[in-house]
Amino acid sequence: MRAHAIRVHQHGGPEQLSWDEIEVADPQAGEVLIRHEAIGLNYIDTYHRSGLYAVPLPAVLGSEGAGTVAAIGPGVSGLAVGDRVAYGGNGPLGAYAEYRTFPADKLVRVPASIELRTAAAMMLQGMTVEYLIRRLFPVQRGQTVLLHAAAGGVGQIAVQWLKHIGATVIGTVGSEDKAAIARMLGCDHVVNYRKEDVAATVRALTHGRGVPVVYDGVGRDTFNASLDSLAPRGLFVSFGNASGAVAPFAPALLAAKGSLFMTRPRLADYIATRDELESSAHALFEVVRGGAVKISVNHSYALRDAAQAHRDLEARRTTGSVVLLP
Ligand SMILES: NC(=O)c1ccc[n+]([C@@H]2O[C@H](COP(=O)([O-])OP(=O)(O)OC[C@H]3O[C@@H](n4cnc5c(N)ncnc54)[C@H](OP(=O)(O)O)[C@@H]3O)[C@@H](O)[C@H]2O)c1
Repeated sequence: MRAHAIRVHQHGGPEQLSWDEIEVADPQAGEVLIRHEAIGLNYIDTYHRSGLYAVPLPAVLGSEGAGTVAAIGPGVSGLAVGDRVAYGGNGPLGAYAEYRTFPADKLVRVPASIELRTAAAMMLQGMTVEYLIRRLFPVQRGQTVLLHAAAGGVGQIAVQWLKHIGATVIGTVGSEDKAAIARMLGCDHVVNYRKEDVAATVRALTHGRGVPVVYDGVGRDTFNASLDSLAPRGLFVSFGNASGAVAPFAPALLAAKGSLFMTRPRLADYIATRDELESSAHALFEVVRGGAVKISVNHSYALRDAAQAHRDLEARRTTGSVVLLP
């Protein structure tokens, strides 16, 4: 069948996003055809577009979506046409499309109480928060953590989930409007990193000790502040590059800053098995259904206007989650 999709033919800026009509193959063995109701916009989409993470071209962008099953390939059991499904961060690229095929074993069913638009907004960012705060470093009630970009997509979910666990959250943001959002979500302390010294504030708030873990999706611009905010033997979780990639550094730096640990994780490695995927998605659905985490779908764009969505995300004009509507 023919369908519209946003493709990149050459790495570069948002102007490289092109609204094309493409051929969508029939679902092969183990696959289903999905009719997208909504597509999640994620910062990683900008890395795939720009070439920071190079992908074979031409490519249909996109790592997250939700919709209904439109057709089923050979050998797929347990799914039927019309079922409501979603995915994020664990399959082939290609979400920026009206229709796409996808491996059935990497999909989850969306509970009836969650709208498909919300599901598209939350799967990738929400399962990321799940593994970051429950499995990579299981945050305990009463611990203080530093979280960068607290008003962003991952950030808003993380603030609420960390508060649900009972942690004290120091969140950074880039504007006063975003500071108000972070506070409203429950951030105990908000630091505007465009104006204030993050590490000095963290030291002041922790009686000089520093925090046991820093969640850093900003990358280059926050690298020094992150290391300088950690307590001895603390964990630096560098999980993204919104401001650019962290420059190479000598391991001895981790010793000098207090025998620190560092990890550079990816969601795909934390939902690699069917069990991990199901339990991560289940934990996310539970906190959303129970009301502990509200998904702020603050911006939506027509899929064909994906270039504008990329411009706004990279210019730090968005808060919370963003969806593209086919
Ligand atoms: N490793 C993983 O498993 C994984 C999974 C999902 C997401 N991520 C990463 O998590 C991060 C957040 O993703 P997201 O989709 O939720 O995006 P987002 O946080 O909604 O948007 C990025 C935010 O980063 C902040 N930022 C700071 N410096 C920036 C700069 N120079 N340019 C642009 N933004 C800057 C901005 O907030 P302020 O204006 O408040 O500074 C901006 O809103 C990204 O780095 C993403 O790649 C990693």
